[in-house]
Amino acid sequence: MNNSLHVAIIMDGNGRWAKARGLPRTSGHHAGVRALRDTVEKAAQSNIHTLTLYAFSSDNWRRPKAEVTALMQLLCTQLPLEAARCEKQQIRLSVIGRRDRLPNPVLQEIRKAEARTRHSNKLHVRLALDYSARDALERAAIHVGQNGNGGFVHALAQAYNASAPVPDVDLLIRTGGEQRLSDFLLWECAYAELYFTPCYWPDFGKEGLAEALAVFDARQRRFGGVPA
Ligand code: IPE
Ligand code: IPE
Ligand code: MG
Repeated sequence: MNNSLHVAIIMDGNGRWAKARGLPRTSGHHAGVRALRDTVEKAAQSNIHTLTLYAFSSDNWRRPKAEVTALMQLLCTQLPLEAARCEKQQIRLSVIGRRDRLPNPVLQEIRKAEARTRHSNKLHVRLALDYSARDALERAAIHVGQNGNGGFVHALAQAYNASAPVPDVDLLIRTGGEQRLSDFLLWECAYAELYFTPCYWPDFGKEGLAEALAVFDARQRRFGGVPA
């Protein structure tokens, strides 16, 4: 059995899931919320201390305005519901990424969700919104350059509004079939095990996570050393 893990997920494939069913892309995002709920529940029962979920990248602002608006509205309605579920399960919910471009109602729901779950310590779920690893790395580098060597990892956490650094990613999962990082946790994934599945995010859920964890368990990590 591994020590407790940091698992990160690029939740991709909502649009294609919907298209395959003749539904609008936004239905895919709604279905994605249900998958998120199941995955978080499963994570809380697994050997995971932190689950970082990529929900909206800084490049996602380039999508059609109607889709962006629908996603922001979905966040507004779902954040309070998720926070309530998390609170019951002793899960801490926080958001990483830029905060200066999110609509005000979303910001308010983020603050409420974080406050409501701040003392929960069973699992830490971090939702990445308006997140770009490169942007955060660049800002952290500027900060360290201007303020002397204050510890790069702390500056990085600060650059994407995390309250504190968390351990590196152990397992990075991407659903939806693409095999790329799309600017997610570039620094923290230095030695992450990568797991790509063709499964669209709305179909991932508990079984998907269980399978990914089983594959992870069978991997041998060496961190540049030689096998024990
Ligand atoms: C991921 O699903 C969700 C977000 C990026 C918000 P997509 O919307 O990227 O779905 P596909 O990749 O188009 O199928
Ligand atoms: C990455 O998915 C971002 C999220 C899942 C939130 P995208 O669908 O935006 O990534 P690309 O465009 O396929 O690289
Ligand atoms: Mg996509």
